[in-house]
Amino acid sequence: MPSCRICKTNYDPFLSFGNMPIANGFLTKEQFDAEYFFELQVGFCPECKMVQIVNQPNREMMFHENYAFYSSTSQNMKLHFKQFAETVMKKYLPSEKSFVVELGSNDGIMLKNFASAGHKHLGIEPSANVAKAAIENGVNTICEFFDEDLAHKIVNEYGQADAFLGANVMCHIPYLHSIVEGIKLLLKPEGIVMFEDPYLGDVIEKTSYDQIYDEHAFLFSVHSIQYLFNMHNMELVDVEPQETHGGSMRYIIGHKEKRSVSSNVQKYLEKEKNLGIGSIGTYYMFKNNCEKFKHDLVNLLNDIKKDGKSIAGYAATSKSTTIINYCGITADQLDYICDTTPIKQNKFSPGAHIPVKAYENFSNSYPDYALLFAYNHMEEIMKKETRFVDQGGKWILYVPEVKVLQ
Ligand code: TYD
Repeated sequence: MPSCRICKTNYDPFLSFGNMPIANGFLTKEQFDAEYFFELQVGFCPECKMVQIVNQPNREMMFHENYAFYSSTSQNMKLHFKQFAETVMKKYLPSEKSFVVELGSNDGIMLKNFASAGHKHLGIEPSANVAKAAIENGVNTICEFFDEDLAHKIVNEYGQADAFLGANVMCHIPYLHSIVEGIKLLLKPEGIVMFEDPYLGDVIEKTSYDQIYDEHAFLFSVHSIQYLFNMHNMELVDVEPQETHGGSMRYIIGHKEKRSVSSNVQKYLEKEKNLGIGSIGTYYMFKNNCEKFKHDLVNLLNDIKKDGKSIAGYAATSKSTTIINYCGITADQLDYICDTTPIKQNKFSPGAHIPVKAYENFSNSYPDYALLFAYNHMEEIMKKETRFVDQGGKWILYVPEVKVLQ
């Protein structure tokens, strides 16, 4: 029986998606034979309520000099992080000389807002290629994995931070105790921690099981985050739901008893109780829903192919790796997946080896159907893809249910 990474309680995994490749491991034909697979199993800890994957590949296999995810590929995400930065500056930074640290700062999408406002800042990003893009954008970045030891070094070199930020990164890190101890060291007594990640409540409600893949060691909830930070004598003081990534939660944390606790914390704890986040039965129901979704999506794709129509995938997201491989989707159903990220193009999708092509393949010759893997960017994509729909193209969606958009 595996033991919980947070509180060491033994738990039973409730779901296995089978063997999975590295979600962002887009590859060339020459790399097919050596492709790495691991069993993607998920468990729920009945004590601290943390939902977690049982085995996570080594971090160096996921985050390296060819990391395929560049945060700045979405205009809406640029706007989101500008607003995030403005909120931090307005509400939490005491002066123009304040020091802001961001974990997993990627290509600098958020920190560049602090840099241009003249704030002392530091990005910590272990993937060398995206870190380089940030530095080229004028964002001070070190290419390292964060932990308690690195926190010591940062304090010695830069001093303590007024704000410690993270977006879609905390849930990537299995050794969270060292991270939280590092944050504690790094943060000034009155400092603030703000991070956001895909929210377990949304994943359960929408059966968005594609949020479960190698990089996501955890699916956080208000319950589990409060438990984790309590263990380190830090306090969850507010939570704010976000629309990003199909439903996320922003957690706001301070040193113990330094700030008043918003009524939102209690409100969301209650909501989570009502949703059944603390009960194993909820996860068995989730498992049944995943199986139904798989069945519905595979049947829909097969019916469309029987009619002789073409289907392309739209956006080679990390999330799509779980969908494609769990549902057994192959190049027989999806002709190709288009994506705007150069590093993914002219490669093959992890596991199923569906060709990934430049976006122009889609816009120059539309397929009959497009399976929208980046449904979290739906608003942005629908706005720019009116021509596809006008000439008869149809979108296939699978969150919160499998359907053809009419
Ligand atoms: P995202 O949902 O952020 O990915 P992930 O599941 O990896 O977190 O989507 C980012 C991917 O989608 C990235 O590969 C770029 C691609 N994309 C497009 O191809 N076109 C678009 O219009 C948008 C917004 C994203």
